[in-house]
Amino acid sequence: MTSLSERIDATTVSDLQARGSQKWADSFGAMGAWIAEMDFGLAPEIAAAMDDVAARAFYGYPPTSLWRELREVTAAFVGDTTGWRIDARQVAGVSDVIHALSLVISHYTAAGSAIVLPTPAYMPFLDLPGALGRELRQVPLARDDDGWHLDLDRLDRALDGAGALVWVNPHNPLGKTYTREETEAVVEIVARHPGVRVFSDEIHAPVLYPGGRHVPYASVNDEAASQAITAVSASKMWNLAGLKCAQLIFSNPADAATWSRGVARVSSHPSTPGMVASIAAYRDGGAWRAEILDYLDGNRRLLAEITAASLPEVGFRVPDATYLAFLDLRALSLEPDPRRFLLTAAGLNVTDGALCGEAGRGFVRLNFATPRPVLRQMLERTAEALDATRTSA
Ligand SMILES: Cc1ncc(COP(=O)(O)O)c(C=O)c1O
Repeated sequence: MTSLSERIDATTVSDLQARGSQKWADSFGAMGAWIAEMDFGLAPEIAAAMDDVAARAFYGYPPTSLWRELREVTAAFVGDTTGWRIDARQVAGVSDVIHALSLVISHYTAAGSAIVLPTPAYMPFLDLPGALGRELRQVPLARDDDGWHLDLDRLDRALDGAGALVWVNPHNPLGKTYTREETEAVVEIVARHPGVRVFSDEIHAPVLYPGGRHVPYASVNDEAASQAITAVSASKMWNLAGLKCAQLIFSNPADAATWSRGVARVSSHPSTPGMVASIAAYRDGGAWRAEILDYLDGNRRLLAEITAASLPEVGFRVPDATYLAFLDLRALSLEPDPRRFLLTAAGLNVTDGALCGEAGRGFVRLNFATPRPVLRQMLERTAEALDATRTSA
């Protein structure tokens, strides 16, 4: 019997291309390290649940009992993994987190109000406010030797008259988890702006490395709970994005009432297989999650080792959570931009940091949730491409 990590190690680039999902299929023949999904297949508990869905042809509308189960297992998972104890009745199901943000902006903030976003940020968050006719106010994080930090005065000014703060923790693309002290400082500032809602995107919270701590925004105090609407999902940790199932957690009873009296009716519901898969993930996917986190931990250590040894000009801060590395290539002035340079010179498809906001220009986001031999190859190709620029300079 081979172990999970041996099976992952044995997965080749052609296996990944044959699987057909967007990360590899839409990478122009290059190695796929961009969109946030993992190359590790499905947890056996979820695969069994999907087999059962197929055997029963369970593709109709979800019954009340499935909704109840989804709420219960979400509440239990969040409580067990973060210590934030919530009631299953606070949980609602939606198709996905981006849709949830669009609902929160449209139905929970004043018409025309601005949306505040610390940047660099997950790319669609930069486009969504404009698509809904809203002003986007970016608050760039500052980087020093210690990592990335929010400028609280700037945040305070940006929140003036705004409708919502989009809070992403653990952070995409930085892989940072905000400490309790950092979160409390933000809660205090946001509380000075009682009209502001906080959309707390905690989709990456299950992808937390040993020793790390995730502090749910709404768990900090009553003010935080009353201003926040939290979004979670099993999709990042268990690789279920295509099944369309996310959950909202209401920590303000008035928000829950607004949801059940109206917004739920215009929301896009989770799919039935997505609900079944998410229930299996939260309830039975713990052992697989632990093994995958251990594997990812090995990958992030390999990244640290190889960047230090072979990519000396590349800045890398080991992430606390997520399988995303935000690599600083600013010292190399790569043309026409670092992402296109790596695509053509290294055959590696990463995300251009500039798409995450001005604060990300000169960086690339590399998804390291890939078999370790493939990751090693990605980094070797990067080192060779960068060596070639030095030789030709
Ligand atoms: C921080 C963050 N939020 C939201 C999403 C998208 O989630 P969904 O597919 O549920 O819309 C992602 C996907 O990578 C993400 O990283």
